[in-house]
Amino acid sequence: MRGARSLHSLVAICAISMALATAPAGAQEVTFTRDVAPILYENCVECHRTGSFAPMSLLNYETARRYASRIKFRVQTRQMPPWHVDRTVGIQDYANDPSLTDSEIATIVQWVDDGALMGDASDMPPPPDLPQGGAWVLEERVGRPPDMIVRSSPYDVIANGQDQWWGPSIEFDALDEPRWIQSYEFKPAYPMGMRVIHHGHASLRFADQTVAIAHYGVGKRYETFPEGVGMLVPAGEAQVVWNLHYFPVGERVENDVVEVGLWFYPEGEDPEIQTRGEVLMRVDRTNGMPRGGDILIPPFGKQVLQGVHVLRQPTLISSFRPHMHMRGKEMSMEAIYPDGRREMLGKVSDYRHIWQLSYQYAEDARPLLPAGTTLLFTSVFDNSAENPLNPDPTQWVVFGRRGVDEMSHMWVGMTNLEQEVYERMVAERQEREHRIAARDDGG
Ligand code: HEC
Repeated sequence: MRGARSLHSLVAICAISMALATAPAGAQEVTFTRDVAPILYENCVECHRTGSFAPMSLLNYETARRYASRIKFRVQTRQMPPWHVDRTVGIQDYANDPSLTDSEIATIVQWVDDGALMGDASDMPPPPDLPQGGAWVLEERVGRPPDMIVRSSPYDVIANGQDQWWGPSIEFDALDEPRWIQSYEFKPAYPMGMRVIHHGHASLRFADQTVAIAHYGVGKRYETFPEGVGMLVPAGEAQVVWNLHYFPVGERVENDVVEVGLWFYPEGEDPEIQTRGEVLMRVDRTNGMPRGGDILIPPFGKQVLQGVHVLRQPTLISSFRPHMHMRGKEMSMEAIYPDGRREMLGKVSDYRHIWQLSYQYAEDARPLLPAGTTLLFTSVFDNSAENPLNPDPTQWVVFGRRGVDEMSHMWVGMTNLEQEVYERMVAERQEREHRIAARDDGG
């Protein structure tokens, strides 16, 4: 009886909070110009504008109204803006989380339910100040154009067909002195390159080492390392080695060229900590199998793969970016501390192959892990008919580079630390937490 009653009151509370959530404060009638356009300008039009890779422009009322029911569906299910972290488990504090608030979602839903009204034209906000289509996104943020630009050689992307790869090696303009990268940006050509490049990497190959300078995927275009952290580019001769994955879009694209811009720390201001940037962590090649030999997903079936990586040095984790293909469903990263304690660091439970999002932790949420910690990665593949992105559930699926084959790895932004730097960072973080706790107690 008691159980039934508490269930009842729970239902009632949910109903009330849902009612509250769908009624934006103080507004009688939700209009596009006053209530909805500001939300779209702030959260959507960076992608949804003419010439971008997103399907339609949301800058004007006419298109927004035409797409109203789809907009409602995508924001209500939180598929837009794209962000696929599981909200029920793991760290939730990210620097680049674009998610709408509950009340923004409620406003959009009500606008659609009320008939997607336009409202008073004079309420329309001024058009947002968007970077030009072909511009460096970081230029404004950093305050100057890149210090150095490297370019891939031209590639013709066919109109129709399967995945294409392009991997030229190009002479690098050798540096006289070693330099430290603070930011990089990977810039596909505008507008068509944005549509045909699925993902790519650029590395510098020196005689004795390779430095991976830039990684790109739809949804991840640039990276700025925190103050005091940089990626070292040695002086001397090197080749820029490109690894570009194109996907035909029904239109031939000629002479596509990708650019990577590098912003260095000022000469003489060397950062204290050297980062490797994003490091590839495999979630295949288990049981001593060759790479991907263990990926074997039956028709209409599922497969779970796990991979482990032991950290030999203390490590700061700044981001993660899962990579699977069309059957990919979930991927997670857990820490198993030397004392056996286990912690979920991040989990994507609604993976979508077209997106290669990099989930970047907020500064104080970045996992700071002692030497001897094991990172445990888990991938789940879903080859059932319920997976909406599955092109054909009747197939056996094995490892391969094409989107219809599978892969399983995670790119993890990691910086290995000296023991004393690690201890100092742990102490600093604890001190900050104590200060905040003391302030909250006092106030
Ligand atoms: C980072 C870029 C990006 C942002 C930000 C973004 N979108 Fe999208 N959106 C896309 C892309 C790319 C697609 C097509 C692929 C897909 O469906 O995931 C899409 C698809 C959609 C669709 C489906 C269109 C169709 O043809 O059915 C809707 C609706 C939508 N977005 C609405 C929104 C709204 C509303 C926002 C803001 C609250 C938003 N999006 C933010 C990139 C973006």
